[in-house]
Amino acid sequence: MKKSIVAANWKMYKTIDESVNFLEKLNLKKIDHEHLRIIICAPFTSLFSMNKYINSSNSKVELGAQNVYYENEGAFTGEISTQMLKESDIQHIIVGHSERRTLFNEDNSIVVKKAKKVLDENINLFFCIGETLEEREDGKTEKILEEQLNFLLTEINKEQLKKIIFAYEPVWAIGTGLSASVEQVKDAHILVRKIISDYFNVPSNELNLLYGGSVKSSSAHELSNIDEVSGFLIGGASLDVDHFSEISKIITEVKNV
Ligand code: PGA
Repeated sequence: MKKSIVAANWKMYKTIDESVNFLEKLNLKKIDHEHLRIIICAPFTSLFSMNKYINSSNSKVELGAQNVYYENEGAFTGEISTQMLKESDIQHIIVGHSERRTLFNEDNSIVVKKAKKVLDENINLFFCIGETLEEREDGKTEKILEEQLNFLLTEINKEQLKKIIFAYEPVWAIGTGLSASVEQVKDAHILVRKIISDYFNVPSNELNLLYGGSVKSSSAHELSNIDEVSGFLIGGASLDVDHFSEISKIITEVKNV
């Protein structure tokens, strides 16, 4: 059986000490790792120390970075390479997050260059997609999701697909407290699974597809009940270890009855 996934996107929060402290506290929580993968995408500065902690404890947390540049090295002030990240043993990198797309002007072609670099380096990819409120209100949700996915799908092969965790995150639900309704999440997940599985001719239940956007313990139960949702990508509620482990507990209970 496929494990559920609960992933934290810490964004620009947590110092090194705070990050390691979170892992120490998480390690004391009862988490059903038989059925659940926990992935934490932390700030670059924290990754090295977090990896050290994971290696020296019995922590089963997988580590991820939140961004990367697509060149190997060079005069790219402020950027970071896959090679640099690999020194912290990261297993995942997030690409295409809406904050990168909107605040840092990453269009589909930049997003895909980064995604390809991640996969070429044999690192697992979180690929985020989602529509804005305006696009949804204009009835363009399907078109936008299809477009964002097609940019990637045409550039990768079936083998690389196995290394991707997709995340559907409606932009209007990120950090706003506005979670998408169960129906909206279900419809979008069915659509995304269909686009990918049709393209590569793979069973849609083999894909990992997370929902993200104001996931909280109060919404985790109903969202976990959606069969097409493999897990969550969580921002705000992932910063607090109690809240984060509560959501982890809820999804494992719901998915394994
Ligand atoms: P949020 O963030 O849970 O704070 O809405 C989700 C994300 O940005 O991945």
